[in-house]
Amino acid sequence: MEVVIKQTADEVGALAAELIGRVVESKPRAVIGLATGSSPLAIYADLARRVADGTLDFDGVRGFALDEYVGIPEEHPQSYASVIRTEVVEPLRMDPTLVRVPDGRAIDIEVACRDYEQAIADAGGIDVQILGIGANGHIGFNEPTSSFASRTRIKTLAPTTRADNARFFDSLDEVPTHCVTQGLGTIMNARRLVLVAQGAGKADAIAAAVEGPVSSMCPASVLQFHEHATVIIDEAAASKLRLADYYTYTYDNKPSWQL
Ligand code: GLP
Repeated sequence: MEVVIKQTADEVGALAAELIGRVVESKPRAVIGLATGSSPLAIYADLARRVADGTLDFDGVRGFALDEYVGIPEEHPQSYASVIRTEVVEPLRMDPTLVRVPDGRAIDIEVACRDYEQAIADAGGIDVQILGIGANGHIGFNEPTSSFASRTRIKTLAPTTRADNARFFDSLDEVPTHCVTQGLGTIMNARRLVLVAQGAGKADAIAAAVEGPVSSMCPASVLQFHEHATVIIDEAAASKLRLADYYTYTYDNKPSWQL
């Protein structure tokens, strides 16, 4: 896995946006995996600036969100359907009919999850998947001990994840207890993974994901098995990495044809 350490959170967003932009430029009908949470917001803001000034075009680009809450209506401002619409689809001027979010309200969730997997396959698979990471090492909503082979399915949110996400709701009680998330197996099928993290609160999770043993106790550690995963973090999130200097040296000396 490639690890890139930037000084600031804004620089993290700018570099990740550059990678995503390159995919879109090289493949106008690219399929992008979309993450919610605060971590990728700088990516979307950067991409939106380029869309606004006419240097990037998401027309024809398809999107699949990583996850969705179960138990809140679609129109709730914190449903990921709402968040993806306001933070991604509208600012990037994507065609809303080409962007899907897992259905957390389906009467038959299992069928909806299978449909979601099929839709990703029918689109030709995900070209680049944007990822954040939870303080407990989750990606999407794949909490510790999620199977590395898992596909899109319903999950129970860890109490710590509910507490972390309570800031988006009026109270902890309002945070749903369940979600639908792409599985680790689904995420690993994407052709490229770009994980971003900022801040000291993510330092332990990043150290476990990048340098720890590959273990379902840290779901993000599965990225060590991906052939094209890039982890872009700021100095605070990198503060517990033992080989931080080595990653910077490697990136600074990266062969130009790999950039
Ligand atoms: C959320 C999302 C994840 C996200 C993670 C970190 O609950 N389901 O996709 O990466 O937890 O969130 P944040 O970026 O807000 O720290």
